[in-house]
Amino acid sequence: QRVDWDLSMVDKGGYPHFMLKEINEQGAVLRNTMGDRIKGEAVDFSKELGWSQESFAKIKKIHIVACGTSYYASLVAERLMEGMLPIDIRVEIASEYRQRSIHLGEDVLAIFVSQSGETADTLAAERLAKSKGALCLAITNGLGSSLAREVDHVLLLKAGPEIGVAATKTFTGQLAVLYLLGIYMAKLSGALSSEEEGRLVKGLLKLPYQIEEILERQEMLKPIAEKYASSRDFLYLGRGRSFPLAHEGALKLKEISYIHAEAFAAGELKHGPIAMLESDIPVVIIAPQDSLYEKLFSNVVEVRARKSPVIAIATQGDSNMKDVANDVFYIPSTDHELYPFLAVVPLQIFAYYIARARGCDIDRPRNLAKSVTVE
Ligand code: G6P
Repeated sequence: QRVDWDLSMVDKGGYPHFMLKEINEQGAVLRNTMGDRIKGEAVDFSKELGWSQESFAKIKKIHIVACGTSYYASLVAERLMEGMLPIDIRVEIASEYRQRSIHLGEDVLAIFVSQSGETADTLAAERLAKSKGALCLAITNGLGSSLAREVDHVLLLKAGPEIGVAATKTFTGQLAVLYLLGIYMAKLSGALSSEEEGRLVKGLLKLPYQIEEILERQEMLKPIAEKYASSRDFLYLGRGRSFPLAHEGALKLKEISYIHAEAFAAGELKHGPIAMLESDIPVVIIAPQDSLYEKLFSNVVEVRARKSPVIAIATQGDSNMKDVANDVFYIPSTDHELYPFLAVVPLQIFAYYIARARGCDIDRPRNLAKSVTVE
């Protein structure tokens, strides 16, 4: 019997694209990334960072600096950290950070998030922060990268190589490291009880299984994607932690399908975007069952009243959403803080199937580079 295969199929683990392979690796990536950074029900970075309560006490400000998908992961994490840490946190796009006059000194912890560790703007921002005496930490997949070599501390994603230009599994890995780091810093500053830590850690440990459960249903997104694949414009809406996620969903669609997609904080709908709504502009709404659910549900109703089709990401058991949205993809229930890990997966798959329906070069989208090493 003859077996037909070629090398590219082997490299892609049998998947038609690296992007789909990498999306499907996200459960494993989370296990690997969290691995020995969780001991029992506690987060432990003592080996990698070696910070004490005293040394950490001098940190009065945290800057998180990144580009592209890494920037959106940072924005999601900021919303977790600010709820736990009594320290000012700001998240900046690297190309902006490096040319502004933001106070930098020894009381600043500057965290640089970069999949590759080679992004020119992120490196330049790091050099600036270092020259002003900030404590510099890199979160990267690039072991031995320029960024990893230059900073005071490195936390590796351990996500394995990511080939698809559109970042997927490294977003999840970055989110995991940032969440764990947030928990660890909150502990060091005495702001997090061990009960709270235990609750978050238990939730984090369930995520790989929950992601795999979503992935078992990934093909359900194909007909939905095909239905909207010829649209010229998309809106993405979210609130709170789902707002940066809306940006990440829109970015995935832009990158690989070349469709115009814009993200808004759902609360801003009435301040402009609602004027654009028409029957041929689909709106993706991220509406998990968290503290902001009721408000998002009202947004779904508002959008439907303007005849725009709604594709909702909702929590299993939310049968009301089916009655108002045109299409719903359900994610498992988790702690409020952890929904982004689950909600991002259908956003990635949705963008993937749309790009596939449009015949785009998914792993190598036009005009884009995996790593932008020049300015
Ligand atoms: C490029 C890639 C994006 C990535 C961004 C930042 O634009 O196409 O996928 O998010 O660079 O890259 P980094 O390696 O710094 O995370």
